[in-house]
Amino acid sequence: MTKILVVDDEANVQRLLQYTLKQAGYTVSVAGDGLEALKLWASDQPGLILLDVSLPKLDGYGVAERIRADEGGKSHVPIIMLTSEKEVEQKVRGLRAGADDYLVKPFHQAELLARMRGLLSRFTASDGASRARPPLGKMIAFYGAKGGVGATTISINTAIAMHNQLDRKVALVDAVLQFGDHRVFLDLGNDRKSVTDLMTAPQLDTELLKSVLVKHDSGVDLLLAPTSPEEADLVNPENFAAILAMLRTLYDYVIVDVDKRLGDLVLSVLDHSDEVHIVMTADLSCLKNVRLVLEALRRIGFDPKRLKLVLNRSNAFTGISTGAAESALKREFETKITNEYRTAISAQNTGSPFSSSKPDSPLGKEIVDLAHSIDATFAPQVPATAGAGATAARAGAARAR
Ligand SMILES: Nc1ncnc2c1ncn2[C@@H]1O[C@H](COP(=O)(O)OP(=O)(O)O)[C@@H](O)[C@H]1O
Ligand SMILES: [Mg+2]
Repeated sequence: MTKILVVDDEANVQRLLQYTLKQAGYTVSVAGDGLEALKLWASDQPGLILLDVSLPKLDGYGVAERIRADEGGKSHVPIIMLTSEKEVEQKVRGLRAGADDYLVKPFHQAELLARMRGLLSRFTASDGASRARPPLGKMIAFYGAKGGVGATTISINTAIAMHNQLDRKVALVDAVLQFGDHRVFLDLGNDRKSVTDLMTAPQLDTELLKSVLVKHDSGVDLLLAPTSPEEADLVNPENFAAILAMLRTLYDYVIVDVDKRLGDLVLSVLDHSDEVHIVMTADLSCLKNVRLVLEALRRIGFDPKRLKLVLNRSNAFTGISTGAAESALKREFETKITNEYRTAISAQNTGSPFSSSKPDSPLGKEIVDLAHSIDATFAPQVPATAGAGATAARAGAARAR
């Protein structure tokens, strides 16, 4: 029987969780403050911790940080943070402190149990012993500074190049939930499944996820956006984060084309991404928006090293030179992509991305360079928990073959 450690200072929450968990077949221990939580974590070796944020003596963030520091990457107890604060920043802080997931109070019992099962199956070996975090694929987000700058074009073609040229196992996610374009760019009908097919199921698991992914001819697996805008509301940020987390256990790279609107869902995607590529063109509204986005990301404590600026259509005449744009933003572009309207638009009109159909075109080559630069960032890296990034990526690839 899996032991669950419940950490909450409110007696009625303790009682309710104890009852729910026992009904579901778990054994439960309870701590009422942060220091007691650390003690019970050490003595009871729980299989999972439900951790309230505001606690006497040491708050939930402090508890999670201490546990992760003590584990030193050799083991990993799944932690679900319980928060009553609705602000994105609080949730984000919890995840950065080392929690694997969070729930906002009040939550449904069924949702709690589903999240717990998901984490337990990811982090627990068949012998019941807690094991280190499995090597996770990298998540790369593409964010357009405004509509029409080429975020979709670049994310789709980069995903294909990472698969074709670098032999990586790649999932491509259309996270522009209301007006996603991937069906158009990839010539796929409305009959293909979308992320909303994952929302109606009682429980998310890898089999279900695989059944909803669409296998594209390029070799990239797709998670498509819904076919109508009103369906987008069915997708909540927590579920979406869980889906992305699961994709990362299955793929070397999860490439996400993100929406412009900076709400909970988008911020959570950006915060979980290993790299965020902000796609822009050299015009005044992009310059203004990029400044605002950089500021918003700074506010949530986003590590600026994970941010990359992509100047698309860099040689198109906009009246603002590359140098002027760079000095306005006080930073350089990591990537510049040339303006090649014919290649871009004919690929779009035929539903055949240029990375597949014209890999030797100037655009195709630049995208391959971008794919290499992303891969180079991760290949030599040695994460604290598992083996080298390259090993992890390759292990991911091997797993899938
Ligand atoms: N490097 C480029 N050169 C020329 N046209 C481009 C380039 N990148 C994108 N486009 C074109 O710009 C338009 C908008 O691209 P899209 O990827 O849909 O932008 P977004 O997703 O940011 O709204 C499309 O018609 C696309 O073909
Ligand atoms: Mg788009």
